[in-house]
Amino acid sequence: MPVLKFEMTHRDPGSSARRGTIYTDHGIVETPIFMPVGTVGSVKAVSQQQLQHDVQAEIILGNTYHLYLRPGTEVLEAAGGLHRFMGWNKPILTDSGGYQVFSLAANRKLTEEGALFQSHIDGSKHLFTAENVMDIQRSIGADIIMAFDECPPYPSDYGYAKKSMELTHRWVDRCIARLDDTPDLYGYTQNLFPIVQGSTFPDLRKASCDYISSRGAAGNAIGGLSVGEPESMMYELTALCCENLPVEKPRYLMGVGTPWNILENIALGIDMFDCVMPTRNGRNGMLFTSQGVINIDNKKWEKDFSPIDEGIGSGISAYYSKAYLRHLVKSKEILGLTIASVHNLAFYLWLVREARAHIVAGDYFSWKNEMIPLLKTRL
Ligand code: GUN
Repeated sequence: MPVLKFEMTHRDPGSSARRGTIYTDHGIVETPIFMPVGTVGSVKAVSQQQLQHDVQAEIILGNTYHLYLRPGTEVLEAAGGLHRFMGWNKPILTDSGGYQVFSLAANRKLTEEGALFQSHIDGSKHLFTAENVMDIQRSIGADIIMAFDECPPYPSDYGYAKKSMELTHRWVDRCIARLDDTPDLYGYTQNLFPIVQGSTFPDLRKASCDYISSRGAAGNAIGGLSVGEPESMMYELTALCCENLPVEKPRYLMGVGTPWNILENIALGIDMFDCVMPTRNGRNGMLFTSQGVINIDNKKWEKDFSPIDEGIGSGISAYYSKAYLRHLVKSKEILGLTIASVHNLAFYLWLVREARAHIVAGDYFSWKNEMIPLLKTRL
């Protein structure tokens, strides 16, 4: 089975940060990378053209749970997969559905077989299994697809976390077997990433890393973090996972996080990130900029006609002023949601490009330590 290639070109001497390239059948992804979240085949309020030109996104994420419920696999297959359906010819990654079932669906029930749930849209009943989640991800056709897993809540007791991790491991094997039994539908390769779990327990995390590593996948993900635990605990567990996952494969930290979370986790050896924060917080008027955090609702911006953020390579962020964006947001104009979302995503993509440049220059660790207090500043 041909698999996705990861080429690591530089390692930071002062930290575990790495600079690399992922090769997929829809093009390359430079790492470290941030992946905008396009849950239903749309990054909320942002067009594909804006994603390409303003945000400079290299890979986006879709959700199996949402796409299965709507438009459904029949439509996706008729379209020739999600890339064609949405007009995005670059790489796509899909999450596997279990996480979304537990955060969105009603009447969820977990069994050995899978997750029973009722749709958040119309209450209809469905069962996700390790097998049918692979079939659905075949229909969607993402370049990178995720194994079916359970993300235990925080906090979880040791007994629950261990049982849940073991179930996730059994599901990984069922996912691999199903993929081996089914063809790629659209003539390009889909690559499975299994997910490390184990909650907040170092021995479980290590056991999970060992098991997941032994599956020999093209890349590996770390789940179950940024679910309410203290930041210092997330960093300790990420570090432990990075030390116990193969160095030569990409590492994806799921659902993380703030700009400073991203810089800290890059230093620990993470290559890929996704999070709804730039779009969701943007829609609520919170802007991340190269100077710090802005609440655009604040009266302080009423007559500030300076650009939202210059010099991050985004036309939209340099073109519109803070005062104008504030006016749009206050007036509940749709354009306000778009500008804020495009800006925040462009900022995240700028941040990872800067991180890459500093890994190549060999000064990532000191740059990161200078940047973080700046990024956290409340303007
Ligand atoms: N997104 C954020 N965290 C997780 C996780 O633990 N599992 C999955 N599948 N998706 C996630």
